[in-house]
Amino acid sequence: MAKLRSQGWFGKQGKDGFIYRAWLKNQGIPDDEFNAKPVIGICNTWSELTPCNGHFRELAESVRRGVLEAGGFPLEFPVMSLGETIVKPTAMLYRNLMSMDVEESIRANPIDGVVLLCGCDKTTPASVMGACSVDIPTIVVSGGPMLTGKYEGKNIATSDVWRFAAGVTKGTFSNEAFREVEACMCRSAGHCAVMGTASTMACMVEALGLTLPGNAAIPAADSRRKVLAQFSGRRIVDMVREEMSISKILTRQAFENAIIVNAAIGGSTNFILHLLAIAGRMEIPLTLEDFDILGSKIPLLANLQPSGEYFMEDFYYAGGLPAVINQLQKHLHTQIITVSGKTVAQNNEHAKIYSEDVIATIDKPFQENAGIVVVKGNLAEKGCVIKPSAATPALMKHRGKAVVFEDIEDYHARFNDPDLEVDEHSVLVLKNVGPKGYPGMPEVGNMGLPKKVLDKGVTDMVRISDGRMSGTAFGTVFLHVAPESAAGGTLAFVQNGDEIEVDVSRKFIHLHVSDIELEKRRLVWTAPDLGYHRGYIGHYIKHVEQADLGADLDFLRGKSGNVVTRDSH
Ligand code: FES
Repeated sequence: MAKLRSQGWFGKQGKDGFIYRAWLKNQGIPDDEFNAKPVIGICNTWSELTPCNGHFRELAESVRRGVLEAGGFPLEFPVMSLGETIVKPTAMLYRNLMSMDVEESIRANPIDGVVLLCGCDKTTPASVMGACSVDIPTIVVSGGPMLTGKYEGKNIATSDVWRFAAGVTKGTFSNEAFREVEACMCRSAGHCAVMGTASTMACMVEALGLTLPGNAAIPAADSRRKVLAQFSGRRIVDMVREEMSISKILTRQAFENAIIVNAAIGGSTNFILHLLAIAGRMEIPLTLEDFDILGSKIPLLANLQPSGEYFMEDFYYAGGLPAVINQLQKHLHTQIITVSGKTVAQNNEHAKIYSEDVIATIDKPFQENAGIVVVKGNLAEKGCVIKPSAATPALMKHRGKAVVFEDIEDYHARFNDPDLEVDEHSVLVLKNVGPKGYPGMPEVGNMGLPKKVLDKGVTDMVRISDGRMSGTAFGTVFLHVAPESAAGGTLAFVQNGDEIEVDVSRKFIHLHVSDIELEKRRLVWTAPDLGYHRGYIGHYIKHVEQADLGADLDFLRGKSGNVVTRDSH
């Protein structure tokens, strides 16, 4: 083993070494802890304002136990945390800021290896992005999903919020019942219980090889989650001894595996943005087209909400992600190494399916060609995405008149206006909800249908925006249009009544307006000014990249490594 990074602090003689060690000793740390033991940072995204990560103090204790058992020296530290349901205007605005906190906290401190405790949506990609830019041994422990919600004897989870809310709009579900459901939905620790973004992220890190096998689906309330955390604590110490830095795990092949696995589980569209951003940090070339080329032909093997029937708890009992990975062997790079020290094939070779209602075999999938499709055309020159498994097949080829909302406030003000000229054939267009335009790219792309349309019994319409969609939502929704309207993309120039054509099988999206007319509209257009000129948000608007690149800040791409060159002591 090479000299430990932490010895650059604790191995020093004289005044400097004294200062580095003495102040830590105020926590009751014996002197021999500083004698070249691997120092393991436990990077904790615990916060009472991030309810999905509310159990992370306990989880950190399990990691700590594992680190001590393996002869390491654990030091837990806090970083910024992002509660998806709480943070305004949208947690995505702060993903990149959180990643900076993680990166700089790791680099600035005497840490040889790091355990990232991640749960709620953005806390996983932000933590991984930060760790990538430092590049030391890294293992991820996810917090696990909540137990399935129960209401009036029936299973419920986050995706049902949209159904219940539509029921309230239609008058078929009372406000009192809506309030009562709140307590039935989130009845244990953990993140959203469906294959939403948090579960997708937990699967992503397992598919990338950054977790021990089985990490993705163990419920937060299941004692085996703590066991996995303890094993991860043991393993990170060995990873430091083996000098297994994150760049040895995150190869181009690992990213390809993640795309294939995400397609097979029907993962959230947010996966695209986060994986692109992580690849950017690792300097691995990955494009939007890769998601289509590698994923769109992969069959759907998981029958999970929001597009299917079951919940993450069921997924775990049915065999979890290892069972899916085992089925996908012929599509995956199975010989690459993971943080367990074993290959993908070795990690998952004994995984079985215990319920074929929840996890399908590769020979009898729930659906063929399930992955995300990338669609391009004059309305999205750099692409937009759709998740066919969450869409209505009959709407995947459609031509209709645009009903345009200039921003989310305009949508809220008018979508239920009885005079709005809209029917089920219309195409709802929402502008200015992209990375720069909102700012922060909120999850509003699956805008609710106007009451006028819902009253006819219609449940889905074609919707197009430069925003995102919650991983727990569904519909024929074209998202992440790039370039976004606030950056002068064609989306900015769509007007009410313009004809829009989409054809997912041809990967085509087109605004039927002549180039001459579009140029005229462009000449009178000005970029929106939301008044954010200072601070983080001002900086974000100037530097955020478009969705097709992962919406990271341009100056955060790549790594700065783990060496600190200046030393003030
Ligand atoms: Fe935290 Fe869904 S709100 S995972």
